[in-house]
Amino acid sequence: MRAEEVVNRTFNLFEDKDTAQCQSRLEELCRGAVVLRAFALADEAPVLAALDEVTADAPPRHMVTPGGFRMSVALTNCGSYGWVTDHTGYRYQASDPDSGKPWPRMPDVFRKVARDAAARAGFENFNPDACLVNLYQPGARVSLHQDKNERDFSAPIVSVSLGLPAVFLWGGLRRQERQVRVQLTHGDVMVWGGPARLYFHGVRPVMEGYHPATGRLRINLTFRRAR
Ligand code: SIN
Ligand code: FE2
Repeated sequence: MRAEEVVNRTFNLFEDKDTAQCQSRLEELCRGAVVLRAFALADEAPVLAALDEVTADAPPRHMVTPGGFRMSVALTNCGSYGWVTDHTGYRYQASDPDSGKPWPRMPDVFRKVARDAAARAGFENFNPDACLVNLYQPGARVSLHQDKNERDFSAPIVSVSLGLPAVFLWGGLRRQERQVRVQLTHGDVMVWGGPARLYFHGVRPVMEGYHPATGRLRINLTFRRAR
């Protein structure tokens, strides 16, 4: 397959079930990685309402990388653990470093979407204990990285895209590998695990725009099993 080709292989594995989520289109990027188109739309309103509560409790902020760079993405967390970065490194911790309080609890509807998406992708019984919330203003991006601060890699990563579209870069096990560009729009969910769990990935700078659900923002919810 040509690198940078937008992958568009469609499977209709669950046509016998009649919920919107079971019928969401499943695109396989490689073994262990899928895009579930529009999967989160069925729960759009409760997800957005729960997100407002999380961000009111733990406001998104720009953290600093160990190398001293301010992240262009503003982030917060919910769940038992939250991913943080500062000059000492990247890690998960149970409290919000800004407030000293525990992170907001993970809303039930978040957990449900994450669990159902993982199952749809073939990863049964996903039980996330961390949800990282990334807010992208136009121009914000995430450089190529692996998700590897989690304690064990047997659980998948579930990533929900909301609001403005973005180009997601999907690479391979080595940083040098060419990346496929995947257009992610409001409600799309990506799941990667198993042989794809440590694949490099990133997000191209988000383009200026307006989305009725989020305004001038792209929001990404990433669910992980941290501990
Ligand atoms: C990330 O990998 O941390 C962000 C993924 C995304 O925003 O789609
Ligand atoms: Fe990531």
